[in-house]
Amino acid sequence: MTWDEPVPIRQDNVEIQIILGSTREGRFGETVARWFHGIAAERQDMGAELIDLRDWPLPFFNEARPPASGHYAPQAEAWAGTVARADGYVIVTPEYNHGYPAVLKNALDHLYSEWNNKPVAFVGYGGPAGGSRAVQQLRQVVVELQMAPIRNDIVMPLARRLFDEDGLITEASYDGRAGGLLDQLVWWARALRSARI
Ligand SMILES: Cc1cc2nc3c(=O)[nH]c(=O)nc-3n(C[C@H](O)[C@H](O)[C@H](O)COP(=O)(O)O)c2cc1C
Repeated sequence: MTWDEPVPIRQDNVEIQIILGSTREGRFGETVARWFHGIAAERQDMGAELIDLRDWPLPFFNEARPPASGHYAPQAEAWAGTVARADGYVIVTPEYNHGYPAVLKNALDHLYSEWNNKPVAFVGYGGPAGGSRAVQQLRQVVVELQMAPIRNDIVMPLARRLFDEDGLITEASYDGRAGGLLDQLVWWARALRSARI
């Protein structure tokens, strides 16, 4: 390549955001999200950005117009800019009363086009059901945001027992599941990015 040739765009490298959907004091979600982000960050085929909803204290969605019209609450403008730069998402969600946290729904509801035509995967954790009910509900929600939920997900029953006191996972099979999930997500992120262009 000579000096005046354009730098080739790395079509294979996609940006994936890992969104932590729990914000409460004493949350366990940080351990789960850090574990997953550690695996994602080692991959050569994607960039991995950890998005903590604690850093995005959005007001309750209460706008006169839906975000589909492109009108966002002032506080949501920066949130829109952050979400827009990703090609795909992994939502890390606990299960609260057989559902997912309200703070997560609020963060989803504030935007529209930024989510459209992008893949999303889920990592659920919680009690005996491992967050599976939260994940199933989220699958229904994201379809309306015109996202593509991928097949693979991770659920972590009694999640606290799967990590040691240093936050390291003690059940090695989850690393493999995370890798398989990311393989699928990257495939979809590449495919949909080229379709969006
Ligand atoms: C308000 C509340 C409701 C919960 N409901 C459920 C539930 O329905 N099913 C379940 O498996 N775990 C449930 N749990 C347990 C949580 O999933 C578990 O404590 C998890 O660690 C919460 O995530 P966090 O610590 O990141 O907030 C509930 C916890 C809270 C705080």
